[in-house]
Amino acid sequence: MKLTNFLFTGRLAKKLERLLDAENRLKGRNLRFLSEEDVTAEDLDWADAYVAFHPVANFHFGNLKWIHSLGAGVDRYMALGERWPEEVLLTRTITSFGKKIGEYTLSYMLKDLQHHDTFHDQQVRGEWKMIAPRALDQMKVVVFGTGEIGQELARILAFFGVHVEGVSRSGADKDHFCRVMSLEEVSLEKADFIINTLPLTMETERLFDERFFGQLNQAVFVNVGRGGTVNHDALLKALDSGCLKAAVLDVFEEEPLPVGSPLWSHPGVTVTPHISAITTPEEGVACFLETLEALESGRELRNRVDVSRGY
Ligand code: GLV
Repeated sequence: MKLTNFLFTGRLAKKLERLLDAENRLKGRNLRFLSEEDVTAEDLDWADAYVAFHPVANFHFGNLKWIHSLGAGVDRYMALGERWPEEVLLTRTITSFGKKIGEYTLSYMLKDLQHHDTFHDQQVRGEWKMIAPRALDQMKVVVFGTGEIGQELARILAFFGVHVEGVSRSGADKDHFCRVMSLEEVSLEKADFIINTLPLTMETERLFDERFFGQLNQAVFVNVGRGGTVNHDALLKALDSGCLKAAVLDVFEEEPLPVGSPLWSHPGVTVTPHISAITTPEEGVACFLETLEALESGRELRNRVDVSRGY
């Protein structure tokens, strides 16, 4: 694939410009780094490659040969339309996301098991009352998604003795999971924590619905995948009925989460502003360059998106 004109846009564009300025490997190419509002139809027609977290509002495929997502998720690219042009390659960023999500998840698990909120409340009241912490190695966690993020998350949790089970489309065994279930055979009654890392696709849209939450028995639900996989009315009902003990939500269908959303104020919900796996500029550049090199030398790509599956 011959790539000459590169268009970078979105919140990292200027930082990528600084980092890529120093890159010899891009000598002789034409690079444009633009804020989203400044991208015109002419820029899109000019570019061979488009590098950004998501498509700009006035996006069109123009003469693009390669689109590289600076994030792991590509649902906003997939939402561009039914027909993805066959000749346009889509890749996504693979970097330390699994490790970051592992730390995010562990922090909320430990907060729960070590009773942080209860001890804080007791301190405010000047109250001395022992409550034994619960141990990670007594916990059963079910991770939805067994791709590289899910596997790294499982590796980190298993290191602490957590019993980790996975759920995937196929149910195929993967490293670090005690077992992997297919979506059809999921059993969740004994799960203490459910972690969703799934991408948003036609199959996963509203997967976490009333029926799903109804199977839970005081579990904590952590969503680091995509907001559109969850029916939030069903989640709130499950919190009120006690099926769910708490929900930790980092991703939402509409971001920022709208001011009036009941998720903001429900005592069982923790809202974080989509920070569980942020791409740093350095990571964005490294994966972009590695992909470019693999592409131009004809090596196999480990981050190619299968647009028929949507991830
Ligand atoms: C973050 O959600 C990403 O897609 O990388």
